[in-house]
Amino acid sequence: MGTTRVLQITDSQTGLSYEIPVVDGAIRAIDLRQIKVSDDDFGLLSYDPAFLNTASCRSAITYIDGDQGILRYRGYPIEELAGQASFLDVAYLLLHGELPGKDESAGWADEITHHTFVHENVKKFIDGFHHDAHPMGILVSTIAALSTFYPEAKAVSDQARQHEQIVRLIAKMPTLAAFAYRHAMGLPYAYPDNELSYTGNFLNMMRKMSEPRYAPNPVLEQALDVLFVLHADHEQNCSTSTMRVVGSSQVDPYSAAAAAAAALFGPLHGGANEQVLRMLGEIGSVGNVPAYIERVKRGELRLMGFGHRVYKNYDPRATIIKKVADQVFEVTGRNPMLDVALELERIALADDYFIRHKLYPNVDFYSGIIYQAMGFPVAMFPVLFAIGRMPGWLAQWQEGTTDPEQKISRPRQLYVGQGLRHLDGTAQVRR
Ligand code: ACO
Repeated sequence: MGTTRVLQITDSQTGLSYEIPVVDGAIRAIDLRQIKVSDDDFGLLSYDPAFLNTASCRSAITYIDGDQGILRYRGYPIEELAGQASFLDVAYLLLHGELPGKDESAGWADEITHHTFVHENVKKFIDGFHHDAHPMGILVSTIAALSTFYPEAKAVSDQARQHEQIVRLIAKMPTLAAFAYRHAMGLPYAYPDNELSYTGNFLNMMRKMSEPRYAPNPVLEQALDVLFVLHADHEQNCSTSTMRVVGSSQVDPYSAAAAAAAALFGPLHGGANEQVLRMLGEIGSVGNVPAYIERVKRGELRLMGFGHRVYKNYDPRATIIKKVADQVFEVTGRNPMLDVALELERIALADDYFIRHKLYPNVDFYSGIIYQAMGFPVAMFPVLFAIGRMPGWLAQWQEGTTDPEQKISRPRQLYVGQGLRHLDGTAQVRR
């Protein structure tokens, strides 16, 4: 902990030198404020639109090395967790820092299972949405609406209250997601079956028709569980940062999670898997791939499911997903879009443009193909992502609430607008 490394800065304007401590590979941006050209100068700011080089917190949850394609939750490689730890155990790991023991795992699963039902009024306002409402829009709204059912959630620093809301949010996500889907399909809502696993129950609420009891296909149940694990956290991405930023105002976690889900909805984030399927449909066949790649290289469009702010190597989740795809296709039959995707990947990875820009498939490139083979409509893809990501949002939010350095998030700006001017037309030269 700590280091004696110091950054020496000399201001060419004043000739003054400063020593800025470097700790854990970073300087504190606030240390730059002492660098002034005059006494009434505000001090030097760092300018970092889109936070390309700014650490916004200290976190002990998820580690990513984007150059090497490494992803670890609480130190465990994603390759070991996926398939060996259930999604609920991974949620526990993210939240508590350790994997649960056998009894803890059973107790945690039991606790989650007993909070899967939602208030009957939730159904009423889902009914109010238009028949073609996007399920992600319904999900975002219903997550926010849960705050009205649990006003005690405002006590964000009360550990016991925090735990209650964490359990509710993880438990109710599949129910809200499935209800949003059933509404869009004009189907009656299917209630949770507490005899099933977390993921098995989600499939039940999605699929159950007139049969007395729905039995999920174990291969698909396991595959979806692995997909949830792969999506469970990804450190300070757009939606997680949103969760932390909104949470820093000390609003209840339902409101913060709704904001995070809204951020996830965007096509550059969790909406990308939806865009990948649309893109593959547009390409249509393997023969059309080279022409499409040329359009991407001309800058006419982006190859959806490719590229990542952090990974400049193969996204490790994409590697695991490709294996899951094989298992799923054995049950569902091969998705014809897979051939188009494989050809896109083959050509792109050998192409100079993609090599130069370090563009590799990300988690969204193959997840949509699996979801589609499993029978999920494209609009449900970001919803599935949100179910998986909820434990990560909550773990990061929880960490933020106990961080002694956390204050309300409030970036600075570089004002580039008009100087002082008056309605009578007079103006002052901008300072
Ligand atoms: N297709 C073609 N070119 C691309 C792509 C792509 N998918 N992604 C980036 N580039 C190019 C850009 O045109 C730019 O080129 P230039 O330097 O010649 O102008 C360069 O690579 C850098 O791109 P940026 O947009 O600056 O990179 P950034 O880190 O901001 O963007 C992002 C990352 C948003 C993921 C981007 O790669 C993208 O739009 N990908 C497609 C959408 C996608 O798959 N999103 C899912 C991300 S994963 C997730 O959220 C789970």
